Amino acid sequence: MTADRVLPDLVIGDLVINPPIIQGGMGVRVSSSRLVAAVANEGALGIIASVGLGEELPDTTPGYVNRAEFGLRQAIQNARKNTRNPFGVNIMCALTNYDNLAQVSCDEGVAAIISGAGLPLRLPTLISDRHVKLIPIVSSARAANLIIKTWQKRHSRLPDALVVEGPLAGGHLGFSFEQVEDLEAFRLERLVTEVIEVARQYGGIPVVAAGGVFDGNDVARFLRLGAAGVQMATRFVCTHECDASDAYKQAFVKCRKEDIVVIHSPVGLPARVIRNDFVDRYLRGERVTFGCPYHCLSTCEPAAARYCIAQALVASYRGDMDHGYAMCGANAWRCNKIVSVHELVQEVVQETAAALRSPR
Ligand SMILES: Cc1cc2nc3c(=O)[nH]c(=O)nc-3n(C[C@H](O)[C@H](O)[C@H](O)COP(=O)(O)O)c2cc1C
Repeated sequence: MTADRVLPDLVIGDLVINPPIIQGGMGVRVSSSRLVAAVANEGALGIIASVGLGEELPDTTPGYVNRAEFGLRQAIQNARKNTRNPFGVNIMCALTNYDNLAQVSCDEGVAAIISGAGLPLRLPTLISDRHVKLIPIVSSARAANLIIKTWQKRHSRLPDALVVEGPLAGGHLGFSFEQVEDLEAFRLERLVTEVIEVARQYGGIPVVAAGGVFDGNDVARFLRLGAAGVQMATRFVCTHECDASDAYKQAFVKCRKEDIVVIHSPVGLPARVIRNDFVDRYLRGERVTFGCPYHCLSTCEPAAARYCIAQALVASYRGDMDHGYAMCGANAWRCNKIVSVHELVQEVVQETAAALRSPR
């Protein structure tokens, strides 16, 4: 720790992050180049969500895979124009163009690929460049063990770090509905402790805690538990630099605790969202007729899905909340204003430092 660094570094091989905060990837376009560059400029690790980046391009780029590839390259290059610091990309395992997005991230030289919403068992086959840190997201020690053993056996490689995501997280959840209800049994503190135990057996792979980490007291609690850092997403939505529309951000600022619900997503996983008219129509069983031009998710069955999640999330990103919704973490109701990324990071760092100084 250097004098100007009040918190310990998050060390992932030769990648040193301070403050030890990863901004969680948020699709569709909620964490893109603007947010990610601003986060990187604070020294934290910004993460571009790779899902849905082809949607806003002019029609001159044909084909879903090409458009998604072009969109991701553009987002990485735009972020790089505004920061010299490292940043990464989030790729969900359920994406049908997973391999292509991983390859593009590697070609563009991002610092890290963070991958969840499924088990990223094949990721090392796609990325031979050891400079790109490969970081799976897991929801249990069992999943961590399986990934580590598979990577070791098939690819002679260990994960560079592990993000442990608990049931209070935003977006898609790696838990069943019953597990999401049983918050005591699946408390993040418990999951993190169990995964750290697994990580220790493999030389101390750094473990990052995610899901409901809201303020510096939370960060300090996980650092004291032995986490190397935290991943936070919900708080970063309520920043000026967040790439989503103002309507999306206002949904966070205005929502009450009871507006936050967990629904079935066409991805095949529970998802936490802010309830609005669109969500209510879905919960009542209404169906939005749609054609699926690209089959973006391997787990989605367009004939059975009651709406297209890609269309819904593109609509909300653009601010059309009548045709979509905002995904959020369980603590989104605690966000009450929009601040700059600098203000947010400074606040969390100062709170964490104060909490670490105070007796347990
Ligand atoms: C709006 C939103 C979109 C998200 N999209 C993704 C995504 O595309 N891929 C992913 O792996 N996680 C996604 N997440 C999960 C976050 O990366 C993060 O791990 C989690 O939300 C952390 O919990 P917190 O929001 O309580 O801080 C999303 C979260 C939010 C709030």
